[in-house]
Amino acid sequence: MKAIVYTEYGTADVLQLKEVAKPAPKDDEVLVKVYAVSANAADLHLLRADPFLIRLSSGLLKPKNTILGSDVAGRVEAVGGNVKQFKPGDEVFGDISGCGWGGFAEYVCAREDALALKPANSSFEEAAAVPMAAVTALQGLRNKGQIQPGQKVLINGASGGVGMFAVQIAKAFGAEVTAVCSTRNLDTARSLGADHVIDYTREDFTQNGQRYDLIIAANGYRSISDYKRALSPKGTYVTTGGSMAQLSEVMLKGPWISMTGSQKMGNLLAKPNKQDLSFIKELLEAGKVKPVIDRCYQLSRVADAIRYLEEGHAQGKVVITVAQNN
Ligand SMILES: NC(=O)c1ccc[n+]([C@@H]2O[C@H](COP(=O)([O-])OP(=O)(O)OC[C@H]3O[C@@H](n4cnc5c(N)ncnc54)[C@H](OP(=O)(O)O)[C@@H]3O)[C@@H](O)[C@H]2O)c1
Repeated sequence: MKAIVYTEYGTADVLQLKEVAKPAPKDDEVLVKVYAVSANAADLHLLRADPFLIRLSSGLLKPKNTILGSDVAGRVEAVGGNVKQFKPGDEVFGDISGCGWGGFAEYVCAREDALALKPANSSFEEAAAVPMAAVTALQGLRNKGQIQPGQKVLINGASGGVGMFAVQIAKAFGAEVTAVCSTRNLDTARSLGADHVIDYTREDFTQNGQRYDLIIAANGYRSISDYKRALSPKGTYVTTGGSMAQLSEVMLKGPWISMTGSQKMGNLLAKPNKQDLSFIKELLEAGKVKPVIDRCYQLSRVADAIRYLEEGHAQGKVVITVAQNN
């Protein structure tokens, strides 16, 4: 089968289209013919081994898993002896970052608990755009953010993969949503349901006197004191992404602020799980959430997809079409 392989850490230039052996499913695994896979910032971090400590889990000198790609959508081709929930022919999607990656390929094996049936109303490309970004948004808003109907919620970085899901999921929970993005993304944010939009190139949301019950930092950089100022007295701030400086500052100062005051501030490291994926699937099928796809690339052009993502201005998700669904 064809796959995009990397055998050393580096830039997108080290990614190579190669012929490799088609995997065979273990007892608890499903073999999926991949139709589409999306690119995530996590692929970039693993590719570059950045931050450096990532090497402790992904391989000290060279990558242990040589095929990246976590968010797959495809059709089950074969199942291992202990697999109960899927059969050949089922259309599935999921985040396989917890079971070896390998989505930038024509076939991949994944544990059945990483997958769910593909939403009935989604194409393979749309389904592949969902898992990691949407589950991160969900866990940031619901698990860490304890979102409640009627709350004022602000999403900073609302126009990226995670942010566009965060806007829609927050609306599905009944919140009053403010989306922060640049000028060219304001209309999309409104169309996804944002009640208010703030153009970060023209207005500083931390200086306009508004206070929010929940702030999700999905991208960009603002200092923790900026976010603290924009939070209501009992508000919660969750960093799901953004610059390393933003993440480090919250990791260091967040616990102290949360312990000593009434505001809560902390990071989220999302954990893929079937329950949350199924929850998102229901939102998709109910039409409450829809993936926004910026660009689609062919498998042979994964390096270009990664380069584009690396520029940091994707409008929604970057997807790779691996096979046409006839
Ligand atoms: N915690 C987790 O488990 C987890 C899971 C997934 C992702 N992440 C992290 O979440 C972050 C975002 O991921 P993503 O997939 O959403 O990235 P992405 O799709 O690459 O984000 C690109 C978007 O971010 C916007 N943006 C860039 N700088 C901004 C700024 N200063 N203020 C506001 N918006 C800005 C861009 O809009 P403009 O073009 O208008 O600037 C663009 O639309 C990454 O750091 C990623 O590593 C974390």
